[in-house]
Amino acid sequence: MDNKIVYLNGQYLPLNEAKISVMDRGFLFGDGIYEVIPSYSGHLFHFEQHMERLDNSLSSIRLTNPHDRAQWLEILTPLLDANLDQSIYLQITRGVADKRDHAFPQNITPTVFAMSSTISPFNDVDSGAKALSVDDSRWELCNVKATTLLANILLRQQAVEKGCAEAILVKDGYVTEGAASNIFAVIDGILITPPKSHEILPGITRDVILEIAEENNIPYSEDIISLDALKTAGEIWLTSSTREIIPIVQLDNEIIANGKPGPIWQTMNQLFQAYKKSRL
Ligand SMILES: Cc1ncc(COP(=O)(O)O)c(C=O)c1O
Repeated sequence: MDNKIVYLNGQYLPLNEAKISVMDRGFLFGDGIYEVIPSYSGHLFHFEQHMERLDNSLSSIRLTNPHDRAQWLEILTPLLDANLDQSIYLQITRGVADKRDHAFPQNITPTVFAMSSTISPFNDVDSGAKALSVDDSRWELCNVKATTLLANILLRQQAVEKGCAEAILVKDGYVTEGAASNIFAVIDGILITPPKSHEILPGITRDVILEIAEENNIPYSEDIISLDALKTAGEIWLTSSTREIIPIVQLDNEIIANGKPGPIWQTMNQLFQAYKKSRL
């Protein structure tokens, strides 16, 4: 195991010395919230937007953010490496209770954990990835970045076992998002992504792509996409902070367009890389 330094409840420790109680509600119930913030050359990308989503997730589960933004910056900065592209994972659980009871315990201190990992975004302009469509079996609070990820894990695993990079989730004939990513399709030359709702996580990468599309006159719309329409799309992309923009060239048994990353992906990926550099 990589014995990197991690943060746990006010201390920086080697990973193998960071321990929590088995009575932690994160362990017993998955009662917690997390965030993943990319860091490029030691600079946190869109820190404010990630903190805002963290606040929204925490208030949805009625947990008070134990730290303000300045404190979060202070906590995360020692985990950053100026020579690397990293993802910074942070997690807050409701804390350690005396007994296992579903109802919230009184006077409990949240558990706060953070660690960094290196990332290497998808950047192979000649080949894309495969995806598998599966029924979206998740709950009604997909806008909350909760640590309770059992459904997402099972859905991703189905995709991996079929040699696919990601599962594309389908509810009532319409695609919602990936198991750990948002979805975009190019249909009739227009870039389309499903609108924000309780059915999807409001991805920060998704917002950046829409901002770049707006600034560069790339036609786009936030609209529902049926699975049938997706299968005949000119391009499909999946987006996330750690994998950036993955072009999907095969969905189930269908080859998408000519089976190569499309021209709008090529343009968007270049614009996205330039956008990242401009924010350092
Ligand atoms: C379910 C889900 N949707 C979308 C995303 C993409 O969000 P972001 O771009 O903020 O990483 C993620 C990220 O992990 C996710 O887990």
